[in-house]
Amino acid sequence: MKLFLDTASLTEIRTMWDGGILDGVTTNPSLVAKEGRPFETVIQDICALGVPSVSAEVVGTTVDEMLAEGRHLRGLHKSIYVKCPMTPAGLQATKILASEGTRVNMTLVFSANQALLAAKVGAAYVSPFIGRLDDQSQNGLELVADIVQIYRNYKFKTEILVASVRHPVHVLEAAKLGADICTMPYAVMEKLCQHPLTDIGLARFLKDWQKVPKG
Ligand code: G3P
Repeated sequence: MKLFLDTASLTEIRTMWDGGILDGVTTNPSLVAKEGRPFETVIQDICALGVPSVSAEVVGTTVDEMLAEGRHLRGLHKSIYVKCPMTPAGLQATKILASEGTRVNMTLVFSANQALLAAKVGAAYVSPFIGRLDDQSQNGLELVADIVQIYRNYKFKTEILVASVRHPVHVLEAAKLGADICTMPYAVMEKLCQHPLTDIGLARFLKDWQKVPKG
């Protein structure tokens, strides 16, 4: 499973990219707004690090607006995936952009039927938002399981990008279900590596090493 960061923070992205465990980045208008810098500058800076997949979202709501923004965004860098919302206009724009060779990440997906439509119009990624479903007492991971089954039934090529991740168990369960990608906040990615027994074990090894006679 590929691991993406769900952030627009260049500092966070650079840390994980240099650490060697990052496969991509997803952004959205809310995350970009936190950076206090122009949208395109933020996206270009992320791409310049060499990250192979960078999702940048359109903010237009009509087909024509999404097409214009999508075509512009994809021209910024070869790593760009254009994020379009799961609306009738978003589906239409995705179909056209995909036919032109643009890789589209269909976002704001909350049902398996929406994911079926995203695959049918040729989206490269589908982004089910599991944390926001959990927040309203629906099981987001059940949605991922349904999408995995549907995509396997019909051999759709669209990759399942699990989004709105809140904690490491979301990542673990997404991996067990066979999701292609999981995008997560920096704090969650950091926790994937941590275990108290690892820290205790390392401290003990280093302490015992002091007892080894120095030749
Ligand atoms: O970027 C899309 C998604 O991951 C947003 O997550 O935490 O705002 O529900 P969140």
